[in-house]
Amino acid sequence: MIELALLVGAGTLAAGVLAGLGLRALPTVRLQVAALACLSVALPLAAVFLSGWAMFHMGDDVKILAVASAAATAATGAGLLIARSIANRLDRVREAAGALAQGDLASRVPEGGPAELNELATSFNRMAEALERLFDARRELVAWASHDLRTPLASMQAMVEALEDGLGEPERYLPALREQVRTLSALVDDLFELSRIDSEALVLELRDTRLDELVASCVRALEPEADARRIRLSTRIGAPATARCAPEKVERVLFNLLTNALRHTPSDGAVAVSLDAANGTVRIAVEDTGDGLTPDAAQRMFERFWRGDRARSGGGAGLGLAIARGLVEAQGGRIWAESPAGGGARVCFTLPGV
Ligand SMILES: Nc1ncnc2c1ncn2[C@@H]1O[C@H](COP(=O)(O)OP(=O)(O)OP(=O)(O)O)[C@@H](O)[C@H]1O
Ligand SMILES: [Mg+2]
Repeated sequence: MIELALLVGAGTLAAGVLAGLGLRALPTVRLQVAALACLSVALPLAAVFLSGWAMFHMGDDVKILAVASAAATAATGAGLLIARSIANRLDRVREAAGALAQGDLASRVPEGGPAELNELATSFNRMAEALERLFDARRELVAWASHDLRTPLASMQAMVEALEDGLGEPERYLPALREQVRTLSALVDDLFELSRIDSEALVLELRDTRLDELVASCVRALEPEADARRIRLSTRIGAPATARCAPEKVERVLFNLLTNALRHTPSDGAVAVSLDAANGTVRIAVEDTGDGLTPDAAQRMFERFWRGDRARSGGGAGLGLAIARGLVEAQGGRIWAESPAGGGARVCFTLPGV
């Protein structure tokens, strides 16, 4: 008796494992689920039927067979229903992925259903949204970049044509031509820096740097411009501070913040740079008494190519703060803007201290 039970048990187990392995070879989820349903009913019934026949030479084989087939049919039906609903949801993901691959960036999958499939749909939708945002940003970038490249090129072309036609003296046009060439090179440099930041190909040589010295030298370099604009430029160093950073990149960030502050402060105003260190972080802030930040600027000033007044001549391309953010974050810091209670603007950034 025991031997027979063990034999039947071992036989059922082996048949189950073998059939389970075989199921994985079936081509669709629908077939796999249906076959699994049949197997889960047929195997135990076969074991019961075999034991019964061996022990009692039962004459009720036909009844048992009928019960077995009815149970298997019901299980197959249920399996097919489940398989169809799984396959339909997978079909929707497949169709949406196909549409996305064809360039339809608005393609999304309806969410819902069993947890795993719902998670698949949610992740797909998140990925599609990120892709759409990325493409929009790229389109905008190309549009602004070509606009900002075309403007100085058009004016250079006009000047060169005027010179060719003998309509003016070269001395009159050369300074303007040189200025346009400088604008173009700065823009191309900025675009390169942004693409390096985006592709994470930015190589930063981090070293321990005395930021008080770096701040002092940047401020010194901009003193002539501040004097020319009759703006008071002051520095407040809390204490000498050392940070682990790439000094030339920090200079670039600070230079941009100072240039912005000088640009937005009327004459007789003031721009103050401060340096503080606390809790292993060094913080540099540039504060001005200028026109301050509009709600739109506070929200968008770190976006690439965004500038408060597009019509303003002599302004930059609107890339300075986007680059500053990329550089600061690549060095493990943070950058943000504030509106001080007394008016004006304050832009601060942090770097990891040593
Ligand atoms: N100190 C500030 N006060 C008021 N607005 C500011 C200040 N700094 C930046 N902004 C606003 O943020 C915008 C974006 O600044 P960002 O430095 O990125 O570009 P930009 O200075 O216009 O050009 P670029 O830096 O490429 O030469 C500016 O055009 C301006 O509208
Ligand atoms: Mg700027």
